[in-house]
Amino acid sequence: MSEFVKIVEVGPRDGLQNEKVPLTLAQRKTLILDLIAAGLKSIEVGSCVSAKWVPQMAHSDALYAQLPKDPDIGLVLLTPNLKGFESALAVGCQEVAVFTAASESFARKNINCSIDESFEKFADVIATAQAHHVKVRGYVSCIVDCPYEGAIDPQQVAKVTKRLYEMGCYEVSLGETIGTATPDRVKKVWNACLAELDSSVLAGHFHNTYGMAIANIYQSLEQGIRVFDSSIAGLGGCPYAKGASGNVSTEDLYYLLSKMGFDTGLNINKLMQASRNISQVLNRQNPSHYAAAYWQMQSAE
Ligand code: HMG
Ligand code: MG
Repeated sequence: MSEFVKIVEVGPRDGLQNEKVPLTLAQRKTLILDLIAAGLKSIEVGSCVSAKWVPQMAHSDALYAQLPKDPDIGLVLLTPNLKGFESALAVGCQEVAVFTAASESFARKNINCSIDESFEKFADVIATAQAHHVKVRGYVSCIVDCPYEGAIDPQQVAKVTKRLYEMGCYEVSLGETIGTATPDRVKKVWNACLAELDSSVLAGHFHNTYGMAIANIYQSLEQGIRVFDSSIAGLGGCPYAKGASGNVSTEDLYYLLSKMGFDTGLNINKLMQASRNISQVLNRQNPSHYAAAYWQMQSAE
C-alpha cells in the first residue's frame, strides 16, 4: 500500500485573505464544498481575526456554521487569541490554528504583538481548547526569510516550533511566507527542527513567489515530512507580506505526490473542477502547471 501524505487545503483562508474584492459567504461556501467533493480531508475555512485587519475573512464563524460536518473532515478556523477562539467554539469548531512567527518584526505586523506575547495569548487559547477537546494546530511564519528582517536563523525557527508543540499544538506548520527559499536553506531549517521534534508533528507550508515551492516540498519529503499545506489554483498571500504570492497549488502538489507513489486520497477530476470554478469566480488565470496540462489534454481528447 502506498504511503499517505496529508494535504491541508488552505485556499479558502490563505488563498482568499488577500483578495482585493472579498468573496461572498455563498462563494466561499461553494469553494469549500467543491474541495470536500474532491476528497480533501483537512480544510482551512477562514480566520476569526479582526475584520478591520482582514475584511476578506469576516464572518468565518458564520461560514463554518453553514458547512456540513463529517468526523472524517477537519474544518479549521485560525484563532490568534481567546476572542477568536470563542467565536470558533460558539459554532462548534473542532480544530483551530494559532499563528506566530520566527521573526519579531513579522509577528508585530501580522498579529500586533511580540513572539512572547503571542505565546501568552496562545496559552489561553490552548487551555480553553483542551478543556473543550478542540484540536490546535500551530503555525510559524518566516522560517527562511522575513520581509522586514531578511534571513532568519534556523535555530530560532526550531525554538519557536518546539515551543508551540510543547504548549499543546498537535502539529506545527512551518510557513515559508514569502516564497524566497531554495531547498538548501529549507534543508537547514528541517535539520534544526528535526533535532528537536519528530517529523510526524511537522508540516510544510510553502509559498511559490519564485517558483521554488515544489522543489522545497521535494526536499522536505526527502527529510521525512509527510504533511503539506497547499492552495487550490495557487491562490494566496499574506496581507502583511507584500509581494509574496500564493501557496503551492494543490494541483501541482497532487502531481508531485502521486507521481512519486504517495497516496493523497484526492479525486483529481473533482479537484480540477474545484480549481476551474474558483478561477472563474476570481476571473484569474490558474498558475498551476498541472492544471494547464490537464485542460490541454482534455481539450485534445
Ligand atoms: P489587536 O488590535 O492587537 O487586538 O489585534 P486588541 O486585542 O487590541 O483589540 C483591538 C480590536 O480588535 C478590538 O475591537 C477587539 O475586539 C478586536 P474594537 O474594540 O477596536 O472594535 N479583536 C478581534 N476581533 C475579531 N476577532 C478577533 C479579535 N481580537 C481582537 N480574534 C489581532 C490583534 C490578532 C486580532 C489582529 O492583529 C489581526 O486580526 N491580525 C490579522 C492576522 C491575520 O489574519 N493574518 C493573516 C493570517 S497568518 C498568515 O497568513 C501566515 C500563514 O499563512 C503562514 C505563512 O504563510 O507564513 C498562517
Ligand atoms: Mg501562508
